[in-house]
Amino acid sequence: MNLKYPEKTGAFFMHVLKNDQIKKFLSQLKEFDSKLYLHSMRVGLLCIDCGIDYNYNEKDLTVLACSGLLHEIGKLKTPYKNIEEIENHPKKGFLILEHFEFKEVRKIVVGHHEYSKTNPFPRKDTPCMKKKTDRREYNKKRLDLTQIVSLANMTEHFLTKKMTDKELSKSYVEELLKKEFAGNSSLIPQVLCRF
Ligand SMILES: [Fe+2]
Ligand SMILES: [Fe+2]
Repeated sequence: MNLKYPEKTGAFFMHVLKNDQIKKFLSQLKEFDSKLYLHSMRVGLLCIDCGIDYNYNEKDLTVLACSGLLHEIGKLKTPYKNIEEIENHPKKGFLILEHFEFKEVRKIVVGHHEYSKTNPFPRKDTPCMKKKTDRREYNKKRLDLTQIVSLANMTEHFLTKKMTDKELSKSYVEELLKKEFAGNSSLIPQVLCRF
């Protein structure tokens, strides 16, 4: 990973990792699945580095970092073979984080797969959160933060997964993201330049 602000991001990351609840959740994740744990750590770092670019204050940056670190926490008790169960992991994450210190985090975690054009879940009608029929409360900051977590997650998955026997090139991943990411497309180069 090619962070833009390695020192600042690293220092903030270490600061967030001191949080007792974060420590507990991450150690559970590490024990459950070490690859998922490493993926979560990388998404957390990416989120902070991008958040610094957007001049987020300490509170928002903390929410962003925690959301990146904990976005897959709902997979803890998820059997991998069952598609329905897997698609339910954002909701499970929302429930697991009920008593988490930063209340916004669970609302971001539940939406981290909703910026997919082809298969948003668990809610299928996103990212149209402005629809009158949508019961979700509209919150611009939360939408912005959710998009960053969602895109950091997608990019990290695409670039570290070997879909064939070859690693996917950055230009190929850029095309994939343009087809798949339903959020603000100007975020795509922002995240990709960090790889
Ligand atoms: Fe996920
Ligand atoms: Fe993920």
